[in-house]
Amino acid sequence: MGRPRSPWAQEYQRRPEYVWGTEPTTFARRIAEMLPGGRVLDLGCGEGRDAVFFAARGFRVTGVDVSAAGIGKARRLARAAGVRVRWVVADMGRSLPRGPYDLVFSCGAVHYLPRRVRDRIFPRWQAVTQPGGLHGHIVFTDREVYVEKGEIVEYFRPGELRNYYGDWEVLEYEESAIACAQDGTPHRHSVAQLIARRG
Ligand SMILES: C[S@@+](CC[C@H](N)C(=O)[O-])C[C@H]1O[C@@H](n2cnc3c(N)ncnc32)[C@H](O)[C@@H]1O
Repeated sequence: MGRPRSPWAQEYQRRPEYVWGTEPTTFARRIAEMLPGGRVLDLGCGEGRDAVFFAARGFRVTGVDVSAAGIGKARRLARAAGVRVRWVVADMGRSLPRGPYDLVFSCGAVHYLPRRVRDRIFPRWQAVTQPGGLHGHIVFTDREVYVEKGEIVEYFRPGELRNYYGDWEVLEYEESAIACAQDGTPHRHSVAQLIARRG
């Protein structure tokens, strides 16, 4: 096995604090408003800020991350919030927790999967989604590249994320840039953000 594509497992272990904080992302908050409830799969859930938020909103949540240290912190966050989440330490490109799901969600994670894996796994994530269910993803694109902590990213090309959803109703699709300073230097990442509904 080569070096890990994502540097975050090491960071979760090295830093005692919550690297991504404990407050949910704006993206998670917005998608939660779009569903009455149901089952959520949070792919690359990290230290659990969004998974715990969905659970606190009454969703039944499965959080998957390749980092045991991240999931350890996520467990503590869930305990502190008094919610139950099903935590899975696994490679999201290989292992698929049993569905069906009403929401498959990822924030900043899927670009760590090689493109050939994405081509295989997106249809599987779609197949375990209920009719009428949603997918929400934010991924890095190749417009504005900033390599952080030696990470190995297969940047999405313009329109690439959207193309996985050709036969879904795409409710929102936007390519933009976000500010970040996780390595101590303020920088930007270009991203694509999608919300789509299965017909
Ligand atoms: C930028 S962090 C975002 C974490 C979380 N979604 C959040 O917003 O707080 C990306 C996450 O993807 C996870 N990750 C990377 N490759 C993965 C894989 N193949 N399977 C599961 N998780 C993975 C990393 O461990 C890391 O927690």
